[in-house]
Amino acid sequence: MQLDRDDERMLAGEQGETRQKMLELLVALGKVFGAERLVPIKSAQVSGASYKTIGEYGLQWLNTLDAKAVVPAVLNPIGMPRDRWDEMGVSVDFAQKQQAVVAAYERLGIALECTCTPYYLRKTSFGDHLAWSESSAVSYANSVIGARTNREGGPGALAAALVGKTPCYGFHLAKNRRPQVVIAVTADTSRWTIAEYGALGYHAGKLVGNRIPYLTGIRPEPDQLKALGAAMAATGAVALYHVEGITPEAQKNHYDVTGLEAIPVEGNDVTKLFREIDVEAVALGCPHCSPEELRTIARLLDGKLVRKPLYVFAAQSVIEANQDTVNAIEKWGARVFADTCVVVSPVMEQYAGIMVNSGKALAYVPDMCASPARIGTTEECIRVATE
Ligand code: F3S
Repeated sequence: MQLDRDDERMLAGEQGETRQKMLELLVALGKVFGAERLVPIKSAQVSGASYKTIGEYGLQWLNTLDAKAVVPAVLNPIGMPRDRWDEMGVSVDFAQKQQAVVAAYERLGIALECTCTPYYLRKTSFGDHLAWSESSAVSYANSVIGARTNREGGPGALAAALVGKTPCYGFHLAKNRRPQVVIAVTADTSRWTIAEYGALGYHAGKLVGNRIPYLTGIRPEPDQLKALGAAMAATGAVALYHVEGITPEAQKNHYDVTGLEAIPVEGNDVTKLFREIDVEAVALGCPHCSPEELRTIARLLDGKLVRKPLYVFAAQSVIEANQDTVNAIEKWGARVFADTCVVVSPVMEQYAGIMVNSGKALAYVPDMCASPARIGTTEECIRVATE
């Protein structure tokens, strides 16, 4: 693997032991995956931020590190809202551990934005090289923006943040971004919301595994693409997908998909996932809500008192920039929390039955929250939370 002189000096320990170790990790990763060089990155998004997932050993490892990020870097959602954890019902013990994890990342120069939607905080452009780790963020960056990132593990993304580079392999190379399978949707999608697109992603992810799908027959909006990609990354391992005539690389490259396996998806494949089960709580914002999604929730909730716990999750910056909308949601008894989410917060484990508008949450809630999950449109979720 080719390294420049700065890299060689870093490897020799001239910038301290932490950067030396981090670069060793990146070089080792690069060798495993056949990278010929490192590529500078524009930003990093670091997973392994919830104490629920990294535990005591992860925290101890973070505390051994001593360097600062050299590119803009944010965290994945953590186990609680940093400033309203007691309001969410998080235990003091968990909160102290989580605060220690956050403090460790702050010491490493990682911005205290804990979100799976970093693209709402900082402009990310077509062709940018990134080191992001949360699967829905990776999918959105690659597919909807046309940026380039592999799905980094937490240590790989942190190493890239501290070094400013990542090994150039996988989705960083144009030759690895071509479609490998066609998902031909024959359903009438004209009235689909993010929930149906999430359900499509839930179904399609199982069909395609880790291949790059090229979807036809759909015309999703950006929030719907977000929902679709998040779910395909959850039930499959889809880090990049293309939608005919919609996503930037599909438009630019006019891919010829003749000869690829084509898998049909009918309306019933999607609608059969909308099963009704009893629920005790409703959670929206997986991935974290866009401003538009917050406005939709506020509009649907207007005038209706919340009778079942209704959680809404979004990035702190998005909440601050849309405070009037957030106030309009909270006025009726819902709670809008930053930094955390339905899957990584231990608080959600108290409910037997959680309703979501997300295909990704539908896939993860049963295991991560030990609760059955039900998917519905945002409108249905609000109805169930308020009836
Ligand atoms: Fe984001 Fe949590 Fe869903 S990290 S994609 S809100 S599971």
